[in-house]
Parts: sequence; C-alpha cells; structure tokens
Amino acid sequence: MNALIASMFALDGRRALVTGASRGIGRAIAETFAAAGADVAVHYHARADLADQVVVHVARQGRRAVALQADLVATGAGVDLYRRAREALGGIDIVVFNAAEQRRQDFDAVDDESYALQTGTGFRSAFEVARAALPAMRAAKFGRLIAIGSVQQYRPNAQLVVYAAMKAALSNMMRNLAKSAGPDGITCNAILPGLIATDRSAEVQADPAAYDALLSRIPCRREGDPREVAALALYLAGPMGGYATGGEYLVDGGLALP
Ligand SMILES: NC(=O)c1ccc[n+]([C@@H]2O[C@H](COP(=O)([O-])OP(=O)(O)OC[C@H]3O[C@@H](n4cnc5c(N)ncnc54)[C@H](OP(=O)(O)O)[C@@H]3O)[C@@H](O)[C@H]2O)c1
Repeated sequence: MNALIASMFALDGRRALVTGASRGIGRAIAETFAAAGADVAVHYHARADLADQVVVHVARQGRRAVALQADLVATGAGVDLYRRAREALGGIDIVVFNAAEQRRQDFDAVDDESYALQTGTGFRSAFEVARAALPAMRAAKFGRLIAIGSVQQYRPNAQLVVYAAMKAALSNMMRNLAKSAGPDGITCNAILPGLIATDRSAEVQADPAAYDALLSRIPCRREGDPREVAALALYLAGPMGGYATGGEYLVDGGLALP
C-alpha cells in the first residue's frame, strides 16, 4: 500500500478492547485493527473456540492478542473486563462497544430476564467500561470510544423496543462524552449498521418472505459485509479520525432513508 495511505490508518502501538469480538462485526473490527498494527483484547461470551481463532489470526499479524470471557449482563462485568484487558495489554487506547444482545418480541412479552439481558449488554456494561477507561485516556491525552449502534435507532420496530432504546442511549452517551472528552484528545462516536451478514442476520433470513421484504427496502438491495463496518471503525480509531467526534455514522445501505 502507498505509504501515505498506510500512515493515515496505522494503529501501531495502539491497544484496543473490542467487545463481542468472537464473531460478526466485532471479529471483523478486531482483525482489521490488528492488521493495522494494534494489539487487541478479544472479548467473548460463550464461544471460546471462535475467540481463540481470532487470537491466532491476530498473532499471525505479529500483534499481541488475548481472549477475555465475560457475560456482560452482570453488574460490574464491564469494570472487570476493562481491568483484565488493561492488565493483559498494559493499557487500552481504543474501546469498541460492540457486544449487544437483542430479543425480537412484542413489548408486552419483555420479561425481567429479557430486559436485563438487553440493557446489561446493550448499555450498562458499555457505561461501566467507558467510566473505567476514561481516566487513563485523559491522562494519556489520547482515546477512541466507538459504539456500535443500529439503524433501529432511526426505524421504529415494535419487536425491538428495548434493544433500540439501548442503542439510542449508547449513541447519546458517545455524543455527550464527546464534549467533555474532546479537550483531552479523546473522540467518541457511534457507527449505526443496517442489515449486516452475521449470525444475527441469519435469524432474519430464516423467514424468506420477511427477508425479501427487508431487502426491497434497502436501497443497496443487499446485506452489508462486516468489513464495511470495520473499515469505518478503522478510520475513527486511526490518526485521521482525530477530528471526527460526536458523530453517528450509518452503514446501512440506505435503509434509514425515509
Ligand atoms: N448484524 C446486524 O445486522 C446488525 C445490525 C445493526 C446493529 N448490529 C449490532 O452490531 C453488533 C454486533 O452484531 P453481530 O451481528 O456481529 O453480532 P453476533 O454475530 O450475534 O455476535 C455477538 C457477539 O456478542 C457476544 N455476546 C453474546 N451474548 C453476550 C453476553 N451475554 N455478554 C457478552 N457478550 C455477548 C458474542 O459472544 P459469543 O460468540 O461468545 O457468543 C459475540 O461475540 C451488535 O451490537 C449489534 O446490535 C448488528
């Protein structure tokens, strides 16, 4: 690659924590960051086998990686995850808040377990990680917080009320933090994917009629590739992302358009 372009996206010496990095979008981001020179803490919940694959992939790029297990539903899990990531890599410069569980169900069917799952993974754990990570970022005068939101923030969906609310809350936290963290060289942004080809989108594909109807509403008429999200995360995390803060960036094939 041309040296100018390489320097615009280099993450050499940076240390990233990516939640939900065993699969899908998180995995693509972790592998992209490593390819750009970052060491990566690969968080996962249940699929240690997949997280180990990511660690091996990162190691092949000559970067350090560690797989860290955490169920982010539990109060305090985010604080503990950040502590372990920091200990493993000697510090964390970039956090990607990617892990989030969703339950497709009518509002009346949302029980306490479902609520706790979606709020714990979708917002509280990210709040905990951000609160734990910011002091060291402020001291270092550098930091990147990147939240993975969703096009659902802009498209009301009666089956995803709690999930979408948590995504909106997470994005709002990024916008809010961007104001106070900016003077210390810390940027805070949200990427809002549309339909992206991951295990999660397989759920949508299981109903062919609903899937076709959804594709017909996407101007690009296809699912996105996780790497199309990762490329934007790389820009935001890298040297050229330093002036982009407080933003919400759609990667949705145009799905959010009226
Ligand atoms: N795919 C889409 O179409 C789409 C669209 C809009 C937004 N998003 C957002 O993008 C992000 C990634 O989505 P994805 O489709 O790539 O997800 P995915 O393939 O379903 O992967 C989910 C990740 O979250 C982890 N996870 C699951 N339950 C968890 C828990 N209780 N605590 C902590 N981590 C847990 C999983 O770990 P294990 O592998 O160990 O289970 C995995 O790494 C999510 O925030 C999602 O809301 C996705």
